[in-house]
Amino acid sequence: MATNLQQGKSRSPQSEHSEGGRGQLLMTEDVLLSVRNLSTHFFSREGVLRAVDGVSFDVKKGEILGIAGESGCGKSVMAQSILRIVPSHGRIVDGEILLQHDSGVVDLAQLDGRGDLIRSIRGAVVSMVFQEPMTSFSMAYTIGNQIIEVIRLHQEVDEKEARIRAIDILRRVGMPKPEENIDAYPFALSGGMRQRAMIAMALSCHPSLLIADEPTTAVDVTIQAQILELMKSLQHEMHMALVVITHDMAVISELCDRVMIMYLGKDVENAPARELFSNPKHPYTIGLLHSVPQLGGGKSQKIEAITGMVPSPYNRPTGCPFHPRCPEFMPGVCDKSEPPQVIVGPNHSVRCHLYI
Ligand SMILES: Nc1ncnc2c1ncn2[C@@H]1O[C@H](COP(=O)(O)OP(=O)(O)O)[C@@H](O)[C@H]1O
Ligand SMILES: [Mg+2]
Repeated sequence: MATNLQQGKSRSPQSEHSEGGRGQLLMTEDVLLSVRNLSTHFFSREGVLRAVDGVSFDVKKGEILGIAGESGCGKSVMAQSILRIVPSHGRIVDGEILLQHDSGVVDLAQLDGRGDLIRSIRGAVVSMVFQEPMTSFSMAYTIGNQIIEVIRLHQEVDEKEARIRAIDILRRVGMPKPEENIDAYPFALSGGMRQRAMIAMALSCHPSLLIADEPTTAVDVTIQAQILELMKSLQHEMHMALVVITHDMAVISELCDRVMIMYLGKDVENAPARELFSNPKHPYTIGLLHSVPQLGGGKSQKIEAITGMVPSPYNRPTGCPFHPRCPEFMPGVCDKSEPPQVIVGPNHSVRCHLYI
């Protein structure tokens, strides 16, 4: 059971969710997940890599949040941090990941990553689908065996009932002939069907939050549209919150209520989707929006609105990390200090010296 941190219960120092001397953790009722000032770093011989570097955002119950940004900006490490599956040479070094759980709030950042509490949350309360279904499924077992195992791990049902539920969820994700395909091995299914099976497995315990990390990058455009449509309708039907991670702004505009833009581990802009598309503030966001492929133009006709490449994370620029690529670069300002988060409109924040 989650310790109710909202009530500020006292805990022994050995408790897996000791607060480390901080105050009470408070969240409003409508917020499901509140990530606050989160930093996750990797430590190696080359130095410290600040994959996630002081990021804050909320996900409301039933909301769809998009996290966008070029490759290497920290989107996946953010997701891994929430689920506490960051590889062992990486570590959450600061911040809070508050989850509304049972009748209280639990700070996932403080949990033992291998403890019972996070294992009871992972898959059942917060679930994840990955870009590549092969990373979710073992090749040695049928998809049915694997979905049934997840169901039985979190719910007290017998094998027969779990199988009925697995068939039901496969049907809901649009798997043809679910009574037969439940016994298929992952490699026997097409890419699109494997993707659906992975979504079925992630949804099998009715999580409150599904995190989808580039869920459609590995499939072709037609299947991509079907999968997105499916996730949206299931999200609505199951009253689930959804975090969609993508580098594709078109996916964001189709699906999301809110958007957070990341650059080199920073949350550079955060706004309601409609506001972000009509009134983008950060030069990086503006660049990303101009990089949307032209209609009918195919991949090759992408407009290159942002010059240069994401710098090496071991060699972070001083000041604002975007300044070497920024068309609005102000020498002596942007390369000197990191811009703080400023509020520029209702629920709209940005980290950029232009707005200070
Ligand atoms: N397991 C890892 N070990 C070391 N560095 C990693 C690891 N995973 C990601 N990184 C680094 O962390 C940064 C953020 O990566 P990632 O979250 O995967 O980016 P995105 O998902 O936005 O493409 C990158 O610089 C990446 O090289
Ligand atoms: Mg990624």
